[in-house]
Amino acid sequence: MNAQEMYEKMKARLDKVVPDVELRIKAELAAQIVNLKQEKNAVILGHNYMEPALFYSIPDFTGDSLDLSRKAAQTDKDVIVFCGVRFMAETAKILNPSKTVLLPAEKAGCSLAASITADDVRALKAKFPGVPVVSYVNTYADVKAESDVCCTSSNAAAVVESLHAETVIFLPDEYLAKNVARETGKHIIFPALTPSPSPAGSGEQLEYQLIGWRGRCEVHEKFTVKDIEAVRAQFPDVVILSHPECSPEVVAASDFSGSTNAMIRYVQQTKAPHFLLLTECAMGDNIAAANPEKDMLRLCMVRCPHMNTITLEDTLNALKLNRYVIEIPEEIRLKAYRAVERMIQIG
Ligand code: 13P
Ligand code: SF4
Repeated sequence: MNAQEMYEKMKARLDKVVPDVELRIKAELAAQIVNLKQEKNAVILGHNYMEPALFYSIPDFTGDSLDLSRKAAQTDKDVIVFCGVRFMAETAKILNPSKTVLLPAEKAGCSLAASITADDVRALKAKFPGVPVVSYVNTYADVKAESDVCCTSSNAAAVVESLHAETVIFLPDEYLAKNVARETGKHIIFPALTPSPSPAGSGEQLEYQLIGWRGRCEVHEKFTVKDIEAVRAQFPDVVILSHPECSPEVVAASDFSGSTNAMIRYVQQTKAPHFLLLTECAMGDNIAAANPEKDMLRLCMVRCPHMNTITLEDTLNALKLNRYVIEIPEEIRLKAYRAVERMIQIG
């Protein structure tokens, strides 16, 4: 594909979203990436939070974390370029280890994944022996390796319920855990990791069913009920959607809460005069580009600083220079694979 063809393809979608000069520069980069992708027999996976010019040009597949994990597991290409953050690229490597997995920006992390270590999980397991551990997919491979099963925002409650356990450890997102507790009718606690006799072994009556951790998404924790009230006062007929990494108060004050894919579907299938998304800003732009007839309000003081580091320039360099290669020690990968694969089986 040449740059002009790419420009025309992008222009058709992004005319109202990306200024024309920027579009021309980005189309040039995108055309080079698509050609190199074919040469290197690579597949590009793009998370829903990618900026519009990237989202609508180079990915073979776009989607939420669960969806993209499945695509990574199924691909027969030699190289997987993950336009997302490190834990997502790691999940691709866990599921499809014979492929070269590239993350275009080395430092594309995640505040949730950084909030917990494998040692923390081991300490929790020692404190609550025999209690199964569910880890959000927004964790690194060594944390997944200490877990019984993973979940994403689209299947968290189903994964917890699939365990049929009286008590479950749910890590590391405090807000997602509270939202899951509410959805599944479970009482949640947040234990301190100080040495104390195991409550499970002490014969005490357990009055909680979910054990959480105080990790937070640095983007979603910023939305407040006050924001929602201010927007509803100005636009009484607005439909508000929030990601389940928002606080339970924000989720309760919203009209719908779900994974990034679920939010996109909801907007597509719902007739409303205005929509407000409480999630990473780029996704609102991507939905607006695909649904020009929908009025998307913006409350965009927050972009994810990690997702934001993935650019077309970096993606081109990733393919040119074969960087940054995701490596996971095999003994950790094998243990993490069990937890991720179990999640995928649940759906
Ligand atoms: P999804 O699984 O809903 O795409 O969410 C990933 C994420 O990092 C949200 O902040
Ligand atoms: Fe992590 Fe939040 Fe960024 Fe998602 S939006 S990658 S949870 S920091």
